[in-house]
Amino acid sequence: MAQAKRTASTQKTRSAATRNSVPVPRRGPKVVARKSKVHGRGVFARLPIAKGERIIEYRGRRITWAQADRWYPDDDSKPSHTFLFTLDENYVIDGNRNGNVARWINHSCRPNCESDIVDGHIWIEALRDIKPGEELYYDYNITLEEPHTAAEKRRWPCWCGNRNCRGTLLGKKR
Ligand SMILES: C[S@@+](CC[C@H](N)C(=O)[O-])C[C@H]1O[C@@H](n2cnc3c(N)ncnc32)[C@H](O)[C@@H]1O
Ligand SMILES: [Zn+2]
Repeated sequence: MAQAKRTASTQKTRSAATRNSVPVPRRGPKVVARKSKVHGRGVFARLPIAKGERIIEYRGRRITWAQADRWYPDDDSKPSHTFLFTLDENYVIDGNRNGNVARWINHSCRPNCESDIVDGHIWIEALRDIKPGEELYYDYNITLEEPHTAAEKRRWPCWCGNRNCRGTLLGKKR
């Protein structure tokens, strides 16, 4: 009798889930890149991600700042765009070379992810539980060598659309 009850309730749960919600995949990559409403391509969760989970490494070639400046000189005539992620005062990770899907993650002023640098590797981790279909964001907090003037902030606009949006991808300069 007890077993029959369990079976019935399990079936009910299953059919309700099938009727009412999009099935959540159980296998495959945790994240996928596709068109974003914020900017170009973004990265979206495919599977549920738990707060604190290490989601993906920001991969790419490790180059010096001097190399980065030579390869990607500032061009004021073009909208700002970068696949460079600061490792430390000497090195950056260049997502253009040997990069992975993490290079498509957009910025938000109200991010659901953060970066953690461990032994020269950049990890993107969840700041809260993230549901399948949600776009991933971290705060780029970009720091320029020059002062963060209003003109520079406009060269790095933020379109995250949050109520507390700073209006720029630039961070606070110390
Ligand atoms: C690493 S790419 C991210 C992928 C980008 N969406 C694309 O399709 O190339 C970083 C660049 O994306 C743009 N971007 C990322 N987040 C943004 C945001 N919140 N508002 C405006 N532009 C953003 C900026 O041009 C930034 O330099
Ligand atoms: Zn913003």
